[in-house]
Parts: sequence; C-alpha cells; structure tokens
Amino acid sequence: MFARKMNDRVFCLGSVDWDRRLFDTLIPLPDGTSYNAYLIKGSEKTVLLDTVDPPLADELMAQLEDVPRIDFVVSLHAEQDHSGTIPKILEKYPAAKLITTPKAKEMLIDLLKISDEKFLPVKDGEILSLGDRTLKFIYTPWVHWPETMVAWLEQDKILFSCDFFGSHIATTDLFVTDQGRVYEAAKRYFAEIMMPFRSIIKKNLEKLAPYPIEMIAPSHGQIFKNPSFIIDAYNDWVSSPSKNIVVLPYVSMHESTKLMVEHLVASLVDKGVKVELFNLAVTDIGKLAMALVDAATIVVGTPTVLAGPHPYAAYAAFLANALKPQVKFLSIVGSYGWGGKTVETLAGMIPNLKVEVLDPVLCKGKPGEKDFRALDDLATAIAQKHAENGFT
Ligand code: FEO
Repeated sequence: MFARKMNDRVFCLGSVDWDRRLFDTLIPLPDGTSYNAYLIKGSEKTVLLDTVDPPLADELMAQLEDVPRIDFVVSLHAEQDHSGTIPKILEKYPAAKLITTPKAKEMLIDLLKISDEKFLPVKDGEILSLGDRTLKFIYTPWVHWPETMVAWLEQDKILFSCDFFGSHIATTDLFVTDQGRVYEAAKRYFAEIMMPFRSIIKKNLEKLAPYPIEMIAPSHGQIFKNPSFIIDAYNDWVSSPSKNIVVLPYVSMHESTKLMVEHLVASLVDKGVKVELFNLAVTDIGKLAMALVDAATIVVGTPTVLAGPHPYAAYAAFLANALKPQVKFLSIVGSYGWGGKTVETLAGMIPNLKVEVLDPVLCKGKPGEKDFRALDDLATAIAQKHAENGFT
C-alpha cells in the first residue's frame, strides 16, 4: 500500500497484514490486521508516529522513500508490532529523536537495544510544536501495557491512539465503513488484551472526554471519523453492569458431559437466561473472551481426565482468570468415571475471579434423572441470582 493522505498535513502509512491469523502466538485474528503508522508534516518539523511489525518493515521504508527528513519518531506503545521497525527508521534518519514516556524508554532499551541518547522522554501533557501544528502527549497507561500514551493533534482534532480503540481488521478501507464489523473486531480486541485493565481504561476515557475529538486514528484497523461510536462502545464495555448471560465453555469425551451441558442450556433458556456456548474442542478463543465482557456467570463443562479437569477446560479457566471479566457467579458441571479432584483443581485456578461458586453438578458416567434434576436446580439458582442482582 502507498502512503494515504488524511489531510494536507497528515498521512497514514503502514501495512495491511492480510495473512496473519494469530497474535502473540495466542490471539486468533480471523480477519488479519493492520499496523498503521502516521506521518505528520508540520510547517517546521516532521513526525512519524509508530512503525510496523518488523516482517513488514520494507513496506514502511518504501513509503518513506520520498521523505527526506524526520525530526521526531513517536512510540506510543513499546510492543514490537508498533515499535519493532524503529531501529531501521533511526538508522535512516540518524538525527531524529525518539519521543516516548519514560517507562517506554526503559522498555525500548530492553526490547530493541536502542541507545539512550536517541530518546526524548515526554511528560504527561507535554506539547511538541511542529510549526503550524502541535502534538500533545497524554499518558493513558495500561492500554494494555504500563507505558502507553496517546497523541493529540490539536489543530486537526485527531487523536492517535495506538492499540486503544483499535481493531484487528485487514482491509483497504482507510476509514470505518462498516460499523457492525468494526464493533465486533474492536470488542474482540478489547476482550483479549484490555479487559483486565477495565478500571484504568475507564479513567483514561474520562481523561480524554474533554478533548473535542473529530477523528481517532488507531494503529490497528480503520480510522474513526465518528469517534463517539467507538468511545461509547468502550464506555459500555468498562462501565455497564453484567448482563443476564451465562458463558458455558465445555469439552466432552464420550458425550456424557455434552448431555449435561445440553440439558443445562435448555433449562437456562427456559428460565429466561441467555447462554453463550463454546465447545472448547473447536471454538475460537477470541469469541469466548468477547462473551466474557458481558456475562454474569461462567459454567465450565468438563469430564474428569487423569483425576482432574480436561486440559481444554483448564485452559479456558486459566484464560478467564487472566482476563479478569466482571463475572459474579461460577459453577462446574461434568461427568467422571471413578473419581478425581476436578472441582478443587478448577476452583484453584481462578483466584482473580471474585465469584460466588454455585453448587457444581458432577455425575458418575452417563447422566440420569437425578443428575438432570440437579442441573435444573443449578439453572434455577443462576436465574434467581441474576434476577436478584438486576442483571437483564
Ligand atoms: Fe498492537 Fe500492544 O500492540
């Protein structure tokens, strides 16, 4: 892709990664992603904001072929998908200073071995004059690393937000064209990496609220010309109470746990509770993470294997514990052959979840009438808890 003009002074550079299907060797990217860098040509100074993932560095370097001078490189976030090409940029523009938070400076020295004298750390709220344009740097920590900040281009009312408000979408559209598609991708991204920092992100949103933002330019996905769309979505994800939803990740080996799960789903729906069901043998973990943003309850369905939970169920529990969703209730259902410590093991894996544990339902072998009645009782308990707490 060539550099694309946003206005006379601002250009979107970077690369669309159509083929990437996994981020951090963990996060599914069903729609690929993009790494957006931005070039701002003030009347006196030129700035490059962020770079691209190193395997795509050549594309960024080609876009800069006709740019004779860069005075400042800004690293809004030290993770390598945005910072990894900074060493090549500094090699091409040796006089350029690297603007970061003090924390990002430490991290980039560790991660990329950039030398100390290249850095120009900025304070929260510090302003950089580019001549007829000014950039203000605003600390927005923990989106999703501790060093993150955003940059505010005052005259054009553009907020450069890096991961914040981003979405993993590969497309040739520079601006958001399909809000439904972007909403889903942005929520997935929020769930996968930002949900654990919900309360800090809420403070960051409050800090940005006074700015008359007309455009948000993230470093993944499309640019928002209607910023209230994504700001409202973020406010909902960080502030709204849990909803009347059970997230039910499960795995089954010989169908007994599956029979239990199917009965529980039917019973919950009968009692007015929505269920998001995920068969862990085939599911997209990103979809599971997204469902956790809103859910009031998690029920894990697992057979007992080698005296404990199935490893897929353990993985889901570990992930939920790391993502720290605002769920309030948890239970476990499943079948066992002769015994084991499935409940104790799973319960011990979720110390971060401040949940009330509802009576698990474990059955020996294939479930029978007594087990189905116990599942109905669990569904009733969940529906009552949701109603008592006003979850709708
Ligand atoms: Fe897109 Fe946290 O990097």
